[in-house]
Amino acid sequence: MGMDLGYKRMSAAASFLASGENFMPQQKRIALLTGGGDCPGINAVIRAVAKKAMLEYGLEVIGIEDGYEGLIHNRHRKLGYDDVSGILTIGGTILGTSNTSNPYRYAVQKGTEIVFEDVSKKAVANAKALGIDCLVCIGGDGTLGIASHLMKHGVPIVGIPKTIDNDLQGTDITFGFDTAVSIATEAIDRIHSTAQSHHRIMIIEVMGRRAGWIALYAGVAGGGDIILIPEIPYSIDAIAAKVRERKKGGKRFSIVVIAEGAKPEGGNVVVRQIIEKSADPIRLGGVGFILGEQLERISGAETRTVVLGHLLRGGSPTANDRVLATELGAKAVDMIVRGEFGRMIAVRGGAITSVPLETVAGGPRPVPLDHPLIAAARALGTSFGDRK
Ligand code: F6P
Repeated sequence: MGMDLGYKRMSAAASFLASGENFMPQQKRIALLTGGGDCPGINAVIRAVAKKAMLEYGLEVIGIEDGYEGLIHNRHRKLGYDDVSGILTIGGTILGTSNTSNPYRYAVQKGTEIVFEDVSKKAVANAKALGIDCLVCIGGDGTLGIASHLMKHGVPIVGIPKTIDNDLQGTDITFGFDTAVSIATEAIDRIHSTAQSHHRIMIIEVMGRRAGWIALYAGVAGGGDIILIPEIPYSIDAIAAKVRERKKGGKRFSIVVIAEGAKPEGGNVVVRQIIEKSADPIRLGGVGFILGEQLERISGAETRTVVLGHLLRGGSPTANDRVLATELGAKAVDMIVRGEFGRMIAVRGGAITSVPLETVAGGPRPVPLDHPLIAAARALGTSFGDRK
C-alpha cells in the first residue's frame, strides 16, 4: 500500500495507525521549529528528534529558523548529523526562536502603528512547499496553540512541550523546569549566607508566569522561610508575623521566595511590560520589590530583593532535563512514523503518552492547592504568606 504521509494521505495514515502497525513514510522529510521563550533542554530535544529521525528512519531533517518567523519568511536550513551532534549540553536553541511571531496575528509596522495581519496561508504554503511529512513544533502554550491551528489547515504536526514554568496543561512535567529550579536553588543558597550575616530579609523573585511551580520547588529545595505563589494570595501582615516569629526564635534573618505572578489578597499581579506584538503580551515582574518596601516598613528589618529573571532560562540543562528531553524527542519520532499527528507528546503519571494539541490552549496549569509539597513545607513551619 502507499505509505507516504503527505497532506492528502493523513486519513490513510490514521487508518493505518488504527491497524496497530508501524509504517515508514515514502517521502522522508520532517521539519523542526522552536517557538516562544527558550529553555534549557531544547537543544537536547532537537538532537534527539533529529538523530533518531536520521539514524533509525533515514529521514531528512530541516530546521526552521526563529520559530514561526522562519515559516512565514521561508527561512530554514537542512540539518545534518554534525549540526545536531555536540549540542546536548548547550543552552538555548540552535534554531533560534521568537515569541512574537504568530502567523494568525502577525505584527506589521505601518508608519508609527503596528497592525496585525493573518499570514497563515503563507506559512501553510511554505510548509507544503518544503515537502515535509511532519512539522515538529517545540514550544509552550502559544507555539502549540498556533500549531493546532496549522494542523487544521493541513500541516501535519507533532508537538513537544517545553517551558521552565512547568505550567502546561496536558503534561505533568516539562524539560527546562528542573534546570530553572536548580539555578534558583543555588541562588537561594548563596543568598542565605549573606542574609544571615546582615540579619536581613532577602526576597528572591523567580519566573513562572501565573503558576508557582518554580517558586514552590526552589523555595522548598532552598529552605525558604516564606514561599509566595500565585495560587495562594498573600497577606503582608501574615508575612510580617512570620518574620517576627522567627526573630523571637533567634533567627534574625528570613528568606522569602516569591513567584513573579504572586499577588496580595484582593490585589493584582505586577506587570513589568506589555509586549503588544506577543500573543501573550503581559510580562510579569517586580512584585519582589514592592513586597520588599512594604515588609521593611512594617517589620523594621532591612530588606533586599533579587530578581532572578532570565538567569533561570540560560545555560546548560540538568541531567534530568537532558534525559527527559531525550526521551520525549525519541518518542516524538515514533509518533511521526506512526502518523500520530495533531498531538503533543506528554508525561502523565510517570508514563510518556500524548494528548491532543488543543489541550495546551486550556490556560496555565496551576499548582493544586492540595499539592503534597505545600503540605510538607507547611508541616515544617514554612509560611505561604496566608493566614493559615
Ligand atoms: O514562559 C517562560 C518565561 O520565562 C516566564 O517565566 C516569564 O514570565 C516569561 O517567559 C518572560 O518572557 P520574556 O522572555 O519575553 O521576557
